[in-house]
Amino acid sequence: MDEGKRICLTGFMGVGKSSVGRHLAQILKSERMDLDFYIEKNERRKISEIIDTDGIDAYREIESANLNRLLDECPAQVISLGGGTWIVDSNRELIKSKGLTSIWLESTFEHCWYNIKFSHKERPLARDKTSAIRLFEERKKLYCLADGHFIIKAEYSSYDIAKLIFDEYFG
Ligand code: S3P
Repeated sequence: MDEGKRICLTGFMGVGKSSVGRHLAQILKSERMDLDFYIEKNERRKISEIIDTDGIDAYREIESANLNRLLDECPAQVISLGGGTWIVDSNRELIKSKGLTSIWLESTFEHCWYNIKFSHKERPLARDKTSAIRLFEERKKLYCLADGHFIIKAEYSSYDIAKLIFDEYFG
């Protein structure tokens, strides 16, 4: 068992990356970090404000710079990425080069959309269902490049998924 293995969670908005990450870190008795939280802390702005004011391309650059910094500076063993982080080629390369194990949390679009609708988090790229479905379909071919893959079924809690990940990678 590689107790020091670092995990990053990817997957579409609303799939539950943050809550699975929280439970996984609790099970591992380890630290976790949400890239979105890290960006907002460092940039002192909400992500929605950055995207709405500076545009998505500028946001992706900020996101990549923060990912770089996080992987160098932060000891967290579990990292929850933003839904678009893994889509950028250089981010995937960086994550691999740092030796992290990437895990794609997959669910149906309707499951993600339900969570998006009922969450307090503002998601500028999912303000309408049509654009969100398009992104969801476009991104599958890149999410599936992750090292691992777990399908989130409605009957699973975030803890159940975290336990499955733990059993497979640390058990
Ligand atoms: C994004 C997902 C968001 C956040 C930003 C962009 C995306 O994170 O990083 O709004 O491109 O899918 P969550 O996946 O945590 O919602």
